[in-house]
Amino acid sequence: MCGIVGYLGNKEAFPILIKGLHRLEYRGYDSAGVALLNASGELNVYKTKGKVKNLEDYCKGKDISGTVGIAHTRWATHGEPNDVNAHPHYSQSENLALIHNGIIENYATLKELLIREGYTFKSETDTEVFVQVIEYVKKKFNLDLYGAVNRALTYVIGAYAIGIIEKNNPNILIAARKGSPLIVGIGKDEFFLGSDASPIVEFTKNVIYIGDEEVVKIERGQQVVINNLKDEIITPEVSQLELDLSEIEKGGFPHFMLKEIFEQPKSLGMCMNGRVSFDELEIKLRGITDNIDRFRKARRILITACGTSWHAGLIGKYLFEEFCHIPVSIEVASEFRYRKPVIYSDDILIPISQSGETADTLAAMDLARQNGAFIYGICNVVGSSIARGTDSGTYTHAGPEIGVASTKAFTTQVTVLIMMALAIGKELGTINHEKYHEIVKELINIPSKIKLILDKAPEIENISKVFTYAKNFLYLGRGYNYPVALEGALKLKEISYIHAEGYPAAEMKHGPIALIDEEMPIVVVAPKLDLYDKIVSNVQEVKARKGRIIAIVTEGDIEVSKVADYCIEVPDTEECLTPILTSIPLQLLSYYVATVKGKNVDQPRNLAKSVTVE
Ligand code: AGP
Ligand code: GLU
Repeated sequence: MCGIVGYLGNKEAFPILIKGLHRLEYRGYDSAGVALLNASGELNVYKTKGKVKNLEDYCKGKDISGTVGIAHTRWATHGEPNDVNAHPHYSQSENLALIHNGIIENYATLKELLIREGYTFKSETDTEVFVQVIEYVKKKFNLDLYGAVNRALTYVIGAYAIGIIEKNNPNILIAARKGSPLIVGIGKDEFFLGSDASPIVEFTKNVIYIGDEEVVKIERGQQVVINNLKDEIITPEVSQLELDLSEIEKGGFPHFMLKEIFEQPKSLGMCMNGRVSFDELEIKLRGITDNIDRFRKARRILITACGTSWHAGLIGKYLFEEFCHIPVSIEVASEFRYRKPVIYSDDILIPISQSGETADTLAAMDLARQNGAFIYGICNVVGSSIARGTDSGTYTHAGPEIGVASTKAFTTQVTVLIMMALAIGKELGTINHEKYHEIVKELINIPSKIKLILDKAPEIENISKVFTYAKNFLYLGRGYNYPVALEGALKLKEISYIHAEGYPAAEMKHGPIALIDEEMPIVVVAPKLDLYDKIVSNVQEVKARKGRIIAIVTEGDIEVSKVADYCIEVPDTEECLTPILTSIPLQLLSYYVATVKGKNVDQPRNLAKSVTVE
């Protein structure tokens, strides 16, 4: 979950590391730290609780010189966020400094063993145990740093991406990964380390994606050396980053989240580019065409994901069953992976993930693969662990999503699911030709319809001001818009800290209706579609109990708007495409409620962008 950055080269490391930490701060932000080797070979570690800015202030006036260093922004798992638990962690002799993303599961046993060997500990972290193990094996077996890291990795159980440097050894930076992501950037006479490409892209586009269970030796003036945990040498593969610096900057917006909400017409365009033919009104998805026999013979589609990506998956169930007539079961990855699910070799598992690094989704995917299922991924981050672990798949191409609250990732995931369902349905002959062309035609119009909704931002901001008093919110929707209600509620709770629940509108009568009184805001997602009359009745039931209704309706709506206190109109479209449009006002509503309440929407408390621990 944390951010890792490292540098070894001919420039001063500190400014590069701090800039990198700022770019990675969305991954974790409860504390931050840096370790630097100065020209005399001294290893200086500075770390503080709070944001990267605090670290910068703390370092003023200190010796921050050195051309090799590592830095970390933490999302605590073991031990509260404070100065001592912040990374980097020194070893006992203070000869080594380590940064770590992940969890060492057997840290307690290792700690006991080390205490018996005379080691003492300053922090409560699993990470400090890790660095002590490295020092222990280094001394015991008389190894150099590279050898010691390799040996120590045979002792630890868990997930990690690490970077480590050593006093009086300014030419070496060692890194390793198992489970957590890690990238090495190759510049001219310099090397970079990052949890993702964002701290690297400004300096070089040449990167090596470090594979799982690999150890890297970065040495001044030498080629990068990589081996795996079985001690086999791996030939490094240099890839080109397809990322622009402007994509990871705010570009004049006050927050990444708002920028990303407004980027959606463009991100949907990128997602459809080359896949939706405007002339022929056709969908062309390579991953589907190449594997159509798999889909033809599929007994089932299993979808697994977490959070927002799971909500997109729920919409996928409606789509695949309606247009492909393939039964779909969907489950959050953390349940799926431990439930001993029945998986057949003719099942297709679709993991959905923005980051491609979510630990539970990765594990669920591995489980399905071991049981012989075909894995078709939907991912945003190119080269991520999930993307690399699939048999085939479709990238969402939304561009980097930095705001912790997922927005453009969701709408592009839904777009990919729509394109997949249409492409498969057409091949399988389970979708009527006319309907297929109508939906494709409408899909092409969706980005400009999103623009029309974004124009209503000031109106939505005004509505949001009325509801900042609320302690609870209820979100209701039916059919394709039931998952939108869940997503709207998640968005509000994660950034405004207002408790919110999403519910299938008709299910309200079976419990949540008891919560409704004149204080309770209820967001009803009610575009004009098949179940419109039924949702009108649900809205009446809310009104009869004096609930305050904010309704998302289709332009020109007369029924729901008569009863609702506030209405936000979205353009008319095909029923299966409505989630893309109706989710936009809900994103804006959450954003404005949270900002009016003065919350940090890009870095909400306790959350991190990429959940690389289970
Ligand atoms: C979304 O707003 C959340 N921050 C979170 O639920 C997220 O969608 C979830 O952690 C899954 O992440 P992924 O798509 O990167 O796998
Ligand atoms: N488990 C480590 C800790 O709690 C690392 C957490 C992280 O990935 O930021 O310090």
